[in-house]
Amino acid sequence: MLKGRHLIEPNDFSLEELEEIFTLADDIIKQPTKYLDICKGKLLATLFYEPSTRTRFSFEAAMLRLGGQVIGFSEPSSSSVSKGESIADTIRTVGCYSDIAVMRHPKEGAPKLASKYSNIPVINAGDGGHQHPTQTLTDLLTIRSYKKSFSNNVIGLCGDLKFGRTVHSLVKALSRYENIKFVFISPPELKIPSYITEELGNHEFYQTSSLEEAIPELDILYMTRIQRERFFNEEEYLRLKGYYILDHDKLKQAKKDMIILHPLPRVDEINSEIDDDPRSVYFKQARYGMFVRMALIVKLLGGDIDVKN
Ligand code: CP
Repeated sequence: MLKGRHLIEPNDFSLEELEEIFTLADDIIKQPTKYLDICKGKLLATLFYEPSTRTRFSFEAAMLRLGGQVIGFSEPSSSSVSKGESIADTIRTVGCYSDIAVMRHPKEGAPKLASKYSNIPVINAGDGGHQHPTQTLTDLLTIRSYKKSFSNNVIGLCGDLKFGRTVHSLVKALSRYENIKFVFISPPELKIPSYITEELGNHEFYQTSSLEEAIPELDILYMTRIQRERFFNEEEYLRLKGYYILDHDKLKQAKKDMIILHPLPRVDEINSEIDDDPRSVYFKQARYGMFVRMALIVKLLGGDIDVKN
């Protein structure tokens, strides 16, 4: 039962609960009109202390498509946060007016702190370089749709693996499935943190800086951008920016049924010349993000839906 729960970490829900969300998302995709009024009278609050396009818009579109309404801020300077209001007081206030809250924050652990003071479900929409569990739901629904199974795949994660919260969340979530091989492709300065690889258990993995060497064996390639906003030193960012650029030439070595995911936004790590390649599914992935967030909202608000009808 997901009603009233928070989503802070990718593994807050059991595999069965995740499957419930994906099954509901599939049904919403097939029969969207069935869900037009399911959240009528409910309010979603979006608290974005950091910029966002996909996460905020997809949550807002999700709630509106379910018949609910949305309030919120897209930058803290337009709220009393700018006067020094704490996260605890902000979420307690937001809980007086709305039924469910989505929070993005530059500090790791901020949504978790909010959840401790909240009387409504809190969803982590990305906290610093830590976790991004609803991006993970998006990624998993996309993989499930194209590959049918999470198990028995080789996944390459490429780019900024040190600060990349989408990578941290996805690896954590995938490590609960059987027989997945992880290939971590990054510059030496942006390697995956050891606290993530330590949780891989029996899964096979290796680290490399060469995308060219890794690409032939991959079933899934998860590209990420080098994140300027996480660097203390601009020179270091400029040195590493452009380290990986996926283009037609590199794709020649890839499997015909490999899929390319990217949480977006991209900068220059995927050349737009491959956007029309059938393996490039990153914009379809962004659309799956709206459907899976619709399913998540319905479940957390306690929508009792029979997907067989
Ligand atoms: N993938 C993602 O989190 O994108 P936004 O930063 O635009 O929300």
